Amino acid sequence: MATAGRENLDPVHVARYDTIEDAGAPGEVALLQNLGLDQNAVVVDLGTGTGQFALAVAAHCARAVAVDVSPVMLAELRGKLDRAGMDNVEVVQAGFLDYEHHGAPADVIYSRYALHHVPDFWKGVAFARLHTALRPGGLLRLWDVVYNFEPAEAESRLEAWCATGGSVDAEGWSRADYEEHVRDEHSTYTWVLEAIAQRVGFTIEQAEYSTDGIFAQYVLRRP
Ligand SMILES: C[S@@+](CC[C@H](N)C(=O)[O-])C[C@H]1O[C@@H](n2cnc3c(N)ncnc32)[C@H](O)[C@@H]1O
Repeated sequence: MATAGRENLDPVHVARYDTIEDAGAPGEVALLQNLGLDQNAVVVDLGTGTGQFALAVAAHCARAVAVDVSPVMLAELRGKLDRAGMDNVEVVQAGFLDYEHHGAPADVIYSRYALHHVPDFWKGVAFARLHTALRPGGLLRLWDVVYNFEPAEAESRLEAWCATGGSVDAEGWSRADYEEHVRDEHSTYTWVLEAIAQRVGFTIEQAEYSTDGIFAQYVLRRP
């Protein structure tokens, strides 16, 4: 909880989250179906937030587990589940470092824009725990803010990113949000994150980087 992110515990931010962030969940479900996701699958969404992905994948798998440290995010998700009448999504208040997976091992673990809340030493622990929760052959689909540039470029790259944010009064993510991310959260370099993931046994099957060097999307597999 200490690194959960101020905004993720703020009811005002959480209430407007879905209006400022489209997680692209249908496209992510389609990608995973192309990689073998089927109706028998067990899927864990770690750092689910308001559960955009968990809700979308639930119709296409046997069991979805939506995990987050923020009780505020989870209250929002529970409201959505009640309104949708969905019964195959389990909501668990936990995080990368203390989620205990029970039942059949996960076929897919999904995590979007959440792992940067964990400092690098703890990312190693998190990756090792995710590796254990997956069945052999299982997939980890990971999106995050991961810096794909050299340290000497940091100032110019991060300033260019922060400059894309709006004012705090405008709809959407603000410059102050991006500055807070850089200052207070734990995004790391792609070449650090990838080394940690491989060290605990993942193979990197896909890695896509945004041209501004700020975002990365991975498909990792437990061999
Ligand atoms: C930017 S939101 C992303 C939510 C969702 N995955 C999405 O793509 O819309 C980041 C989420 O990570 C959660 N989080 C923060 N620290 C975490 C941790 N240690 N373990 C799991 N989730 C965490 C926050 O509470 C928040 O819901």
